[in-house]
Amino acid sequence: MLLTFAPMEGLTGVVFRRCHHRYFGGPDLYYMPFVTPTHEPRFTERQLRDIAPENNKGVPVVPQLLTQSPENFRWAVLSLASMGYCEVNLNLGCPMGTVTAKGKGSGMLRDPFALESFFEKAFSEPLPIAVSVKTRLGWRNEDEFEDLLRIYNRFPISELIVHARVREDFYKGDARRGAFARFLPGFAHRAGYNGDIVMTRELAELRDAFPNLHSVMVGRAAVANPAFFRMARGGPACSRKELFAFHRTLFEELTEAFGSVGNTVGHMKQYWFYLRTLFEGGERIFKKLLKTRRAGDYMAVVSEIEETLPLQPEAKPLWWKPSSGSRSES
Ligand SMILES: Cc1cc2nc3c(=O)[nH]c(=O)nc-3n(C[C@H](O)[C@H](O)[C@H](O)COP(=O)(O)O)c2cc1C
Repeated sequence: MLLTFAPMEGLTGVVFRRCHHRYFGGPDLYYMPFVTPTHEPRFTERQLRDIAPENNKGVPVVPQLLTQSPENFRWAVLSLASMGYCEVNLNLGCPMGTVTAKGKGSGMLRDPFALESFFEKAFSEPLPIAVSVKTRLGWRNEDEFEDLLRIYNRFPISELIVHARVREDFYKGDARRGAFARFLPGFAHRAGYNGDIVMTRELAELRDAFPNLHSVMVGRAAVANPAFFRMARGGPACSRKELFAFHRTLFEELTEAFGSVGNTVGHMKQYWFYLRTLFEGGERIFKKLLKTRRAGDYMAVVSEIEETLPLQPEAKPLWWKPSSGSRSES
């Protein structure tokens, strides 16, 4: 069973992946946050900073595309193939309103006919590399997956990775593992599971429950606990020393990439939203951290965290939020 790092826009960009791989490593693959190919048959400079192979040297990465246009999808896959990639992932899960309003991401799950027509055109001629799909179970209701799966099963998809939620869940409530289990026997392709894995022992439970699972993808828990994948392979938990060395390197390399230390301080707070869950307590210090603007103040609070807060071996899912409405669980 492969262990893969989930794509997380704003968090698992090229600088993070390089630092994470250098300090901790562990995932078989890092899926890159989505890039949106436009009708121009080339990637922008900004997109290339993340996807160019020379910027990802030594790191096992898979680019991800977010598009509802089969033409744009095809040129982007061919272009990534010519860069040397052997897999591209298609994002059918992004729930953001700005994305779904354009019929992209999980917006493509709303209209199975349009989805089928997309695949007809996308696969109208053979593509030279593997195309995996990351999907949700549906738009509003998990039973929609029956129709979606019938479509996925018709096309030469290399792996179907399911974030076991529907679009209307966004990231709330519990992942619908029961629904995933119900549909799994009907998969014609390799199956990947994603959603709410927090503790490394849960991987063994998944392996027992789904012996044929090809991969498990983990996102938030691996940002919260950068040693997650290493521990999953029997390695040690994150030590205080390496966590703060990793933090320092990430800070420095992001500052170089942004060309501004102010932007880095803002950006680092997004990591702390998850990282703080690896510490015991510290509400007061983390509030103080959020208020910092200047690098000096920020670093002073980070030193206080380093010197005073107890570190736990695994993260607590403090990011968990209850689902907002009633939902139909199977
Ligand atoms: C901040 C954030 C950014 C994300 N960006 C992407 C993305 O670019 N592409 C994608 O397929 N999923 C994205 N996701 C979804 C994650 O890949 C993953 O499916 C989700 O977090 C559930 O897995 P987890 O419970 O292991 O975190 C994002 C999630 C978050 C919270």
